[in-house]
Amino acid sequence: MALRVVQWATGGVGKAAIEAVLAHPELELVGCWVHSADKHGVDVGTLVGRGPIGVLATSSREEVLALEADCVVYAPLVPDHDEVAALLRSGKNVVTPVGWFYPSEKDAAPLVEACRAGGTTAHGTGLNPGGITELHPLVFSAISSAVTFVRGEEFSDIRTYDAPDVVRHIMCFGATPEEARQGPMLSLLGGGFKQSVHMCLDVLGFSRDAELRTSHEVAVATAPIDSPIGVIEPGLVAGQRFVWEAVVGDTVVVRVAVNWLMGEEHLEPAWDFGPEGERFEVEVHGDPSSFVTIKGWQPQTVEEGLLRNPGIVATAVHCVNSIPYVVAAEPGVKTYVDLPLVAGRAHPDLA
Ligand SMILES: NC(=O)c1ccc[n+]([C@@H]2O[C@H](COP(=O)([O-])OP(=O)(O)OC[C@H]3O[C@@H](n4cnc5c(N)ncnc54)[C@H](OP(=O)(O)O)[C@@H]3O)[C@@H](O)[C@H]2O)c1
Repeated sequence: MALRVVQWATGGVGKAAIEAVLAHPELELVGCWVHSADKHGVDVGTLVGRGPIGVLATSSREEVLALEADCVVYAPLVPDHDEVAALLRSGKNVVTPVGWFYPSEKDAAPLVEACRAGGTTAHGTGLNPGGITELHPLVFSAISSAVTFVRGEEFSDIRTYDAPDVVRHIMCFGATPEEARQGPMLSLLGGGFKQSVHMCLDVLGFSRDAELRTSHEVAVATAPIDSPIGVIEPGLVAGQRFVWEAVVGDTVVVRVAVNWLMGEEHLEPAWDFGPEGERFEVEVHGDPSSFVTIKGWQPQTVEEGLLRNPGIVATAVHCVNSIPYVVAAEPGVKTYVDLPLVAGRAHPDLA
Protein backbone atom coordinates (compact mmCIF):
# COMPACT_ATOMS: atom_id res chain seq x y z
CA MET A 1 0.00 0.00 0.00
CA ALA A 2 1.29 3.49 -0.84
CA LEU A 3 2.52 5.73 1.97
CA ARG A 4 0.19 8.71 2.44
CA VAL A 5 2.00 12.05 2.24
CA VAL A 6 0.95 15.60 3.14
CA GLN A 7 2.77 18.62 1.72
CA TRP A 8 3.19 21.53 4.19
CA ALA A 9 3.57 24.84 2.23
CA THR A 10 3.76 25.25 -1.51
CA GLY A 11 6.68 27.57 -2.20
CA GLY A 12 9.49 26.47 -4.51
CA VAL A 13 10.44 23.49 -2.35
CA GLY A 14 6.83 22.54 -1.63
CA LYS A 15 5.77 22.53 -5.28
CA ALA A 16 8.78 20.45 -6.30
CA ALA A 17 8.04 18.05 -3.43
CA ILE A 18 4.46 17.60 -4.67
CA GLU A 19 5.75 16.69 -8.14
CA ALA A 20 8.25 14.26 -6.61
CA VAL A 21 5.57 12.59 -4.48
CA LEU A 22 3.34 12.20 -7.55
CA ALA A 23 6.26 10.61 -9.44
CA HIS A 24 7.26 8.23 -6.62
CA PRO A 25 5.88 4.68 -6.97
CA GLU A 26 5.55 4.12 -3.21
CA LEU A 27 3.91 7.43 -2.28
CA GLU A 28 0.44 8.97 -2.53
CA LEU A 29 -0.40 12.65 -1.92
CA VAL A 30 -3.36 12.93 0.48
CA GLY A 31 -3.24 16.52 1.73
CA CYS A 32 -1.61 19.92 1.56
CA TRP A 33 -1.34 22.86 3.96
CA VAL A 34 -0.95 26.36 2.51
CA HIS A 35 -0.13 29.66 4.19
CA SER A 36 -1.64 31.86 1.46
CA ALA A 37 -5.37 32.45 1.92
CA ASP A 38 -5.94 32.51 -1.87
CA LYS A 39 -4.64 28.95 -2.22
CA HIS A 40 -7.15 27.54 0.32
CA GLY A 41 -9.54 25.13 -1.41
CA VAL A 42 -7.53 25.03 -4.66
CA ASP A 43 -6.73 21.62 -6.14
CA VAL A 44 -3.07 20.79 -5.49
CA GLY A 45 -2.59 19.69 -9.11
CA THR A 46 -3.62 23.18 -10.20
CA LEU A 47 -1.13 24.72 -7.73
CA VAL A 48 1.73 22.87 -9.45
CA GLY A 49 0.52 23.65 -12.96
CA ARG A 50 -1.01 20.32 -13.96
CA GLY A 51 -4.59 19.06 -14.07
CA PRO A 52 -6.65 18.56 -10.90
CA ILE A 53 -5.69 15.51 -8.83
CA GLY A 54 -8.61 15.57 -6.38
CA VAL A 55 -6.61 16.79 -3.35
CA LEU A 56 -7.56 20.25 -2.11
CA ALA A 57 -5.16 22.58 -0.29
CA THR A 58 -6.22 23.87 3.11
CA SER A 59 -4.99 26.65 5.36
CA SER A 60 -6.42 24.85 8.40
CA ARG A 61 -3.73 23.33 10.57
CA GLU A 62 -6.37 21.32 12.47
CA GLU A 63 -7.65 19.76 9.24
CA VAL A 64 -4.14 18.53 8.44
CA LEU A 65 -3.55 17.27 11.97
CA ALA A 66 -6.76 15.25 11.72
CA LEU A 67 -5.79 13.62 8.40
CA GLU A 68 -4.76 9.97 8.24
CA ALA A 69 -1.25 10.26 6.82
CA ASP A 70 2.15 8.61 7.16
CA CYS A 71 4.42 11.59 6.55
CA VAL A 72 4.49 15.37 6.15
CA VAL A 73 7.03 17.19 3.95
CA TYR A 74 7.37 20.32 6.12
CA ALA A 75 8.65 23.25 4.00
CA PRO A 76 7.29 26.61 5.25
CA LEU A 77 9.17 29.89 5.17
CA VAL A 78 10.24 29.57 8.81
CA PRO A 79 9.90 26.54 11.05
CA ASP A 80 7.50 26.52 13.98
CA HIS A 81 8.82 23.97 16.47
CA ASP A 82 5.44 23.53 18.19
CA GLU A 83 3.80 22.88 14.82
CA VAL A 84 6.33 20.17 13.96
CA ALA A 85 5.87 18.60 17.40
CA ALA A 86 2.07 18.62 16.92
CA LEU A 87 2.42 16.85 13.55
CA LEU A 88 4.68 14.22 15.11
CA ARG A 89 2.33 13.74 18.06
CA SER A 90 -0.58 13.27 15.64
CA GLY A 91 1.12 10.16 14.26
CA LYS A 92 2.72 11.69 11.17
CA ASN A 93 6.41 11.35 10.44
CA VAL A 94 8.09 14.58 9.31
CA VAL A 95 10.80 15.19 6.71
CA THR A 96 11.98 18.77 6.37
CA PRO A 97 14.65 20.99 4.79
CA VAL A 98 14.25 23.66 7.51
CA GLY A 99 16.22 22.09 10.39
CA TRP A 100 17.03 19.08 12.57
CA PHE A 101 19.88 17.87 10.28
CA TYR A 102 22.03 16.92 13.29
CA PRO A 103 20.55 18.64 16.33
CA SER A 104 22.18 18.55 19.76
CA GLU A 105 20.47 16.35 22.32
CA LYS A 106 19.04 19.48 23.97
CA ASP A 107 17.69 20.92 20.70
CA ALA A 108 16.22 17.58 19.66
CA ALA A 109 14.59 16.88 23.04
CA PRO A 110 11.12 18.47 22.42
CA LEU A 111 10.77 16.61 19.12
CA VAL A 112 12.07 13.36 20.60
CA GLU A 113 9.30 13.57 23.19
CA ALA A 114 6.72 14.25 20.44
CA CYS A 115 8.07 11.35 18.39
CA ARG A 116 7.74 9.05 21.38
CA ALA A 117 4.15 10.15 21.93
CA GLY A 118 3.20 9.70 18.27
CA GLY A 119 5.39 6.69 17.47
CA THR A 120 6.96 8.81 14.72
CA THR A 121 10.27 9.98 13.25
CA ALA A 122 11.59 13.41 12.25
CA HIS A 123 14.38 13.83 9.69
CA GLY A 124 16.08 17.03 8.49
CA THR A 125 17.45 16.81 4.95
CA GLY A 126 17.82 18.87 1.79
CA LEU A 127 20.74 20.14 -0.24
CA ASN A 128 22.61 22.85 1.60
CA PRO A 129 22.49 22.10 4.48
CA GLY A 130 21.35 18.53 4.26
CA GLY A 131 23.54 17.12 1.50
CA ILE A 132 26.53 18.99 0.18
CA THR A 133 27.72 20.24 3.57
CA GLU A 134 27.78 16.97 5.53
CA LEU A 135 26.30 13.92 3.77
CA HIS A 136 28.37 14.17 0.59
CA PRO A 137 31.73 14.90 2.30
CA LEU A 138 31.07 11.93 4.59
CA VAL A 139 30.15 9.68 1.63
CA PHE A 140 33.44 10.55 -0.14
CA SER A 141 35.43 10.19 3.11
CA ALA A 142 34.63 6.48 2.95
CA ILE A 143 37.38 6.03 0.36
CA SER A 144 40.07 7.91 2.31
CA SER A 145 42.05 6.88 5.36
CA ALA A 146 43.66 9.36 7.78
CA VAL A 147 41.26 12.18 6.90
CA THR A 148 42.63 15.65 7.68
CA PHE A 149 40.02 17.92 6.07
CA VAL A 150 36.55 17.88 4.52
CA ARG A 151 34.74 20.67 2.71
CA GLY A 152 31.32 21.27 1.13
CA GLU A 153 30.83 24.56 -0.74
CA GLU A 154 28.23 26.23 -2.95
CA PHE A 155 28.87 28.85 -5.67
CA SER A 156 25.48 30.13 -6.89
CA ASP A 157 23.87 33.01 -8.72
CA ILE A 158 21.14 33.85 -6.27
CA ARG A 159 19.14 35.69 -8.96
CA THR A 160 17.86 32.22 -9.91
CA TYR A 161 16.23 31.58 -6.50
CA ASP A 162 12.58 32.61 -6.78
CA ALA A 163 11.84 32.87 -3.05
CA PRO A 164 11.73 36.65 -2.50
CA ASP A 165 10.87 36.38 1.20
CA VAL A 166 13.82 34.07 1.87
CA VAL A 167 16.22 36.10 -0.31
CA ARG A 168 15.21 39.48 1.08
CA HIS A 169 14.26 38.83 4.70
CA ILE A 170 16.35 35.78 5.67
CA MET A 171 19.42 36.13 3.42
CA CYS A 172 19.20 39.98 3.58
CA PHE A 173 20.06 40.71 -0.06
CA GLY A 174 19.23 44.31 -0.93
CA ALA A 175 19.85 45.38 2.68
CA THR A 176 22.65 47.59 3.92
CA PRO A 177 25.85 45.71 4.87
CA GLU A 178 25.13 46.54 8.52
CA GLU A 179 21.58 45.15 8.32
CA ALA A 180 22.87 41.99 6.61
CA ARG A 181 25.49 41.51 9.33
CA GLN A 182 22.76 41.64 11.96
CA GLY A 183 20.18 39.71 9.89
CA PRO A 184 18.63 36.36 10.82
CA MET A 185 20.79 34.34 8.39
CA LEU A 186 23.50 33.38 10.85
CA SER A 187 21.10 32.39 13.62
CA LEU A 188 18.34 30.88 11.45
CA LEU A 189 20.09 29.12 8.57
CA GLY A 190 23.47 29.18 10.37
CA GLY A 191 22.06 26.72 12.88
CA GLY A 192 21.73 24.14 10.10
CA PHE A 193 25.25 24.72 8.74
CA LYS A 194 26.75 24.40 12.23
CA GLN A 195 24.95 21.07 12.57
CA SER A 196 26.68 20.00 9.32
CA VAL A 197 30.07 20.84 10.82
CA HIS A 198 29.23 18.94 14.01
CA MET A 199 28.12 15.88 12.05
CA CYS A 200 31.42 15.81 10.13
CA LEU A 201 33.45 16.30 13.34
CA ASP A 202 31.63 13.55 15.22
CA VAL A 203 31.41 10.96 12.44
CA LEU A 204 35.03 11.40 11.35
CA GLY A 205 36.22 11.45 14.97
CA PHE A 206 38.04 14.79 15.00
CA SER A 207 39.02 16.10 18.44
CA ARG A 208 36.13 17.08 20.70
CA ASP A 209 38.15 20.24 21.46
CA ALA A 210 37.70 21.47 17.87
CA GLU A 211 36.86 25.17 17.86
CA LEU A 212 34.00 26.43 15.67
CA ARG A 213 34.30 29.76 13.90
CA THR A 214 32.07 31.63 11.50
CA SER A 215 32.78 34.39 9.02
CA HIS A 216 30.48 36.53 6.89
CA GLU A 217 31.67 38.85 4.10
CA VAL A 218 29.49 40.97 1.85
CA ALA A 219 29.90 42.53 -1.59
CA VAL A 220 27.84 45.58 -2.49
CA ALA A 221 26.41 46.69 -5.83
CA THR A 222 28.40 49.36 -7.66
CA ALA A 223 25.56 49.96 -10.17
CA PRO A 224 21.83 49.04 -10.10
CA ILE A 225 21.44 45.22 -10.38
CA ASP A 226 18.17 43.66 -11.58
CA SER A 227 17.06 40.81 -9.34
CA PRO A 228 13.90 38.87 -8.42
CA ILE A 229 13.60 41.04 -5.30
CA GLY A 230 13.74 44.23 -7.40
CA VAL A 231 16.64 46.47 -8.32
CA ILE A 232 19.54 46.35 -5.86
CA GLU A 233 20.86 49.89 -5.64
CA PRO A 234 24.55 50.79 -5.37
CA GLY A 235 25.91 50.34 -1.84
CA LEU A 236 23.41 47.60 -0.93
CA VAL A 237 24.21 43.92 -0.46
CA ALA A 238 24.47 41.94 -3.71
CA GLY A 239 26.93 39.20 -2.74
CA GLN A 240 27.54 37.20 0.43
CA ARG A 241 30.05 34.61 1.55
CA PHE A 242 29.38 32.64 4.73
CA VAL A 243 31.96 30.22 6.11
CA TRP A 244 31.58 27.83 9.03
CA GLU A 245 34.82 26.11 10.04
CA ALA A 246 36.07 23.73 12.70
CA VAL A 247 39.68 24.09 13.77
CA VAL A 248 41.84 21.59 15.70
CA GLY A 249 44.92 23.39 17.00
CA ASP A 250 45.96 25.47 13.98
CA THR A 251 44.40 23.13 11.42
CA VAL A 252 41.06 23.72 9.71
CA VAL A 253 39.48 20.24 9.58
CA VAL A 254 35.93 21.01 8.38
CA ARG A 255 34.84 23.86 6.13
CA VAL A 256 31.30 24.58 5.03
CA ALA A 257 30.80 27.62 2.81
CA VAL A 258 28.30 29.34 0.55
CA ASN A 259 29.13 31.97 -2.09
CA TRP A 260 25.91 33.66 -3.17
CA LEU A 261 26.14 36.40 -5.82
CA MET A 262 23.52 38.47 -7.62
CA GLY A 263 25.34 37.82 -10.90
CA GLU A 264 29.02 38.50 -11.53
CA GLU A 265 28.87 42.15 -12.55
CA HIS A 266 28.93 45.44 -10.65
CA LEU A 267 30.15 43.96 -7.36
CA GLU A 268 32.59 45.47 -4.89
CA PRO A 269 34.75 43.51 -4.10
CA ALA A 270 34.66 42.19 -7.69
CA TRP A 271 33.73 38.60 -6.76
CA ASP A 272 32.95 36.06 -9.50
CA PHE A 273 32.63 32.28 -9.81
CA GLY A 274 35.91 31.87 -11.70
CA PRO A 275 36.26 29.90 -14.95
CA GLU A 276 34.32 26.90 -13.58
CA GLY A 277 31.15 28.95 -13.10
CA GLU A 278 28.35 28.04 -10.74
CA ARG A 279 28.85 24.72 -9.02
CA PHE A 280 28.95 22.75 -5.80
CA GLU A 281 32.23 21.31 -4.52
CA VAL A 282 33.12 18.52 -2.13
CA GLU A 283 36.69 17.99 -1.00
CA VAL A 284 38.25 15.37 1.26
CA HIS A 285 41.94 15.35 2.20
CA GLY A 286 43.22 11.92 3.21
CA ASP A 287 44.78 8.88 1.61
CA PRO A 288 43.73 9.23 -1.18
CA SER A 289 42.09 12.65 -1.45
CA SER A 290 38.96 13.53 -3.44
CA PHE A 291 37.97 16.72 -5.23
CA VAL A 292 34.44 16.62 -6.61
CA THR A 293 32.69 19.30 -8.68
CA ILE A 294 28.94 18.91 -9.09
CA LYS A 295 27.15 20.53 -12.01
CA GLY A 296 23.44 20.23 -12.73
CA TRP A 297 22.03 21.64 -9.51
CA GLN A 298 22.05 25.15 -10.94
CA PRO A 299 19.98 26.32 -13.92
CA GLN A 300 21.54 27.29 -17.27
CA THR A 301 19.95 30.74 -17.15
CA VAL A 302 18.34 33.04 -14.60
CA GLU A 303 14.99 32.73 -16.42
CA GLU A 304 15.13 28.93 -16.27
CA GLY A 305 15.95 29.07 -12.56
CA LEU A 306 13.02 31.33 -11.81
CA LEU A 307 10.68 28.85 -13.50
CA ARG A 308 12.17 25.77 -11.81
CA ASN A 309 15.49 25.82 -9.98
CA PRO A 310 17.22 22.41 -9.98
CA GLY A 311 18.80 23.12 -6.56
CA ILE A 312 15.36 23.69 -5.08
CA VAL A 313 14.06 20.58 -6.84
CA ALA A 314 17.02 18.59 -5.44
CA THR A 315 16.24 19.87 -1.95
CA ALA A 316 12.62 18.75 -2.25
CA VAL A 317 13.43 15.40 -3.85
CA HIS A 318 15.97 14.56 -1.13
CA CYS A 319 13.14 15.04 1.38
CA VAL A 320 10.64 13.01 -0.63
CA ASN A 321 13.03 10.14 -1.40
CA SER A 322 13.77 9.76 2.31
CA ILE A 323 10.09 9.17 3.20
CA PRO A 324 10.00 5.34 2.91
CA TYR A 325 13.15 5.07 5.05
CA VAL A 326 11.90 7.59 7.63
CA VAL A 327 8.50 5.90 7.94
CA ALA A 328 10.26 2.55 8.50
CA ALA A 329 12.67 3.98 11.12
CA GLU A 330 12.33 3.64 14.89
CA PRO A 331 10.65 6.68 16.55
CA GLY A 332 12.89 9.66 17.28
CA VAL A 333 14.90 12.35 15.48
CA LYS A 334 16.94 10.45 12.88
CA THR A 335 19.84 11.82 10.86
CA TYR A 336 21.89 10.49 7.93
CA VAL A 337 23.97 8.67 10.52
CA ASP A 338 20.93 6.71 11.70
CA LEU A 339 19.10 6.02 8.43
CA PRO A 340 20.06 3.50 5.73
CA LEU A 341 21.17 4.67 2.27
CA VAL A 342 18.43 6.84 0.75
CA ALA A 343 18.00 6.30 -3.00
CA GLY A 344 15.78 7.63 -5.75
CA ARG A 345 13.43 5.46 -7.81
CA ALA A 346 13.46 4.51 -11.50
CA HIS A 347 11.38 6.43 -14.05
CA PRO A 348 8.03 4.60 -14.44
CA ASP A 349 8.79 3.94 -18.17
CA LEU A 350 11.89 1.97 -17.12
CA ALA A 351 10.64 0.27 -13.98
N1 LIG B 1 18.13 22.73 3.40
C1 LIG B 1 18.09 23.16 2.16
O1 LIG B 1 18.86 22.72 1.32
C2 LIG B 1 17.09 24.21 1.75
C3 LIG B 1 17.08 24.66 0.41
C4 LIG B 1 16.10 25.58 0.02
C5 LIG B 1 15.17 26.05 0.95
N2 LIG B 1 15.23 25.61 2.24
C6 LIG B 1 14.23 26.09 3.24
O2 LIG B 1 12.97 25.51 2.87
C7 LIG B 1 11.92 26.44 3.20
C8 LIG B 1 11.05 26.66 1.96
O3 LIG B 1 11.86 27.25 0.95
P1 LIG B 1 11.22 27.73 -0.42
O4 LIG B 1 12.32 27.95 -1.36
O5 LIG B 1 10.11 26.81 -0.79
O6 LIG B 1 10.60 29.14 0.06
P2 LIG B 1 9.40 29.95 -0.62
O7 LIG B 1 9.34 29.68 -2.08
O8 LIG B 1 9.51 31.34 -0.11
O9 LIG B 1 8.11 29.27 0.02
C9 LIG B 1 7.81 29.32 1.36
C10 LIG B 1 6.32 29.03 1.54
O10 LIG B 1 6.04 29.14 2.94
C11 LIG B 1 4.73 29.63 3.11
N3 LIG B 1 4.78 30.85 3.92
C12 LIG B 1 4.91 32.15 3.54
N4 LIG B 1 4.92 32.95 4.61
C13 LIG B 1 4.78 32.15 5.69
C14 LIG B 1 4.73 32.37 7.08
N5 LIG B 1 4.76 33.61 7.59
N6 LIG B 1 4.61 31.30 7.89
C15 LIG B 1 4.55 30.04 7.40
N7 LIG B 1 4.61 29.77 6.07
C16 LIG B 1 4.73 30.81 5.25
C17 LIG B 1 4.14 29.92 1.73
O11 LIG B 1 3.41 28.76 1.39
P3 LIG B 1 2.09 28.77 0.45
O12 LIG B 1 2.58 29.30 -0.87
O13 LIG B 1 1.69 27.35 0.40
O14 LIG B 1 1.08 29.66 1.09
C18 LIG B 1 5.40 30.05 0.88
O15 LIG B 1 5.15 29.75 -0.47
C19 LIG B 1 12.60 27.72 3.71
O16 LIG B 1 12.58 27.68 5.12
C20 LIG B 1 14.02 27.60 3.20
O17 LIG B 1 14.95 28.25 4.04
C21 LIG B 1 16.15 24.70 2.65
